[in-house]
Amino acid sequence: MAAEAQAKATLRADQPGVTISPNIYGQFAEHLGHCIYGGIWVGENSTIPNTRGVRNDVLGALKKLKVPFVRWPGGCFADEYHWKDGIGPRELRPRMINTHWGGVVEDNSFGTHEFLDFCELLGTKPYVSANVGSGTVQEMMEWVEYMTSDADSPMANLRRKNGRDKAWDVPFIGVGNESWGCGGNMRAEYYADQYRKYATYVKNYQPGKSIARIAGGPNASDYHWTEVLMREARNHMQGLSLHYYTLPTGSWSGSKGVGSGFPEADWFATIDRTLFMEELVQKHSAIMDKYDPQKKIPLVVDEWGTWYDVEPGTNPGFLRQAATMRDAMVAAINLNIFHRHAERVTMTAIAQMVNVLQAMIFTEGEKMALTTTYHVFEMYTVHQGATYLPLDIKGPAYVYGDQSVPAVYGTASRDAEGRIHVSLTNVNPHEAVKISVALQGVKAGAVTGRVLTGPSMDSGNTIAQPNLVVPQAFTDAVLKDGLLEVVLPSKSVVALELK
Ligand code: AHR
Repeated sequence: MAAEAQAKATLRADQPGVTISPNIYGQFAEHLGHCIYGGIWVGENSTIPNTRGVRNDVLGALKKLKVPFVRWPGGCFADEYHWKDGIGPRELRPRMINTHWGGVVEDNSFGTHEFLDFCELLGTKPYVSANVGSGTVQEMMEWVEYMTSDADSPMANLRRKNGRDKAWDVPFIGVGNESWGCGGNMRAEYYADQYRKYATYVKNYQPGKSIARIAGGPNASDYHWTEVLMREARNHMQGLSLHYYTLPTGSWSGSKGVGSGFPEADWFATIDRTLFMEELVQKHSAIMDKYDPQKKIPLVVDEWGTWYDVEPGTNPGFLRQAATMRDAMVAAINLNIFHRHAERVTMTAIAQMVNVLQAMIFTEGEKMALTTTYHVFEMYTVHQGATYLPLDIKGPAYVYGDQSVPAVYGTASRDAEGRIHVSLTNVNPHEAVKISVALQGVKAGAVTGRVLTGPSMDSGNTIAQPNLVVPQAFTDAVLKDGLLEVVLPSKSVVALELK
């Protein structure tokens, strides 16, 4: 048998960084396909077990992820959404066409009350994306008053009439979405002015609380957008968003690459393209540093993840795609990048929560399956709120044809109880890698771990086979002479705890 490839690393626990904000683990839920309808919301009268209309199985699974916030209602949907259509008796709510996502009729049965109730059930914070593209300043201002004012005021009283006495806590408001595209096709200069105007009227009605106003940020590498927004509007924002999707082909026209049964070329390209997030974060952060050297304004990566061709036979507008070990790699690599930039990146949201794009969960009728991405998020919960510890890895390359990327990626943190968590990923789909980690500033007597891997690159869970890839106990890690020695199986994510 061939010897494993070797990697070396140093864990610099004696040089701790900042706290990894739990908000790095946020999620995005749009009125798109079966994310909301069928995925989260089934209504009180459904035969699917639910709590006030929210599916119990999905709720239970999400609770284990400690989801810090949920971004809603879009996405592109947000800039066509008129919130007053989604309040009051459901049977009286007007309908609309969801022009972006399949042209289906939206009956508005899941609206403000349902979303904020879902957040309360899940124990998460709401991040509401408000309509700039086809909305008005008044509409946005009234929505914020409706949700967050406890005064004897028109919108607060309308909320009371609709059954909710107490104001909700809504700590994040997005001011438009992708205003460079589906949110209005604006130029950065124009949006910066629009942003300033809209953001002025996002008022804080609750003394002692705050609302972070998040400006619509750049599309991937549009650095001009960041420059203009920071130059013109930084004093009015508490966050600037960034959207970047990983497409195997890198092309929005034609095939993006299939989600399952893909060739190794697509595996490699997906890893390669997702690594671009590092450059994006670095370059956008560098621009932000010029205007905000103290890093007070977060870079909010509120849409990220894989985007493949839809599952054969599904509605192309519903963005339902397969989930495999490749998605596990992408999830881990991006979370590692966000940890590394935890000073600037304090909030992100993967797209999307259920049944859409790089989903956590699939549902079909009453059935549910947890994806490989779900399992990585679950394995990474230990890093939420922990102290970042630098982990430098020097390792073999994963070579494909005449191209290569590093084979091994990782991140580490120390939690409030002093336990150190090291998460390692080997993207080589064929070979194991043995990694020796020198432990600086670590006192540990024992290591335990779990591993997520599968027999092939496109191993994953489906509704028909929901438990093909689940975390397993991992025993290939030992502590020896100040070193942590681990054999990482091919295409694996390994989560270790040192105590
Ligand atoms: O997540 C799907 C879509 O991708 C969102 O609606 C939009 O913001 C982005 O282009």
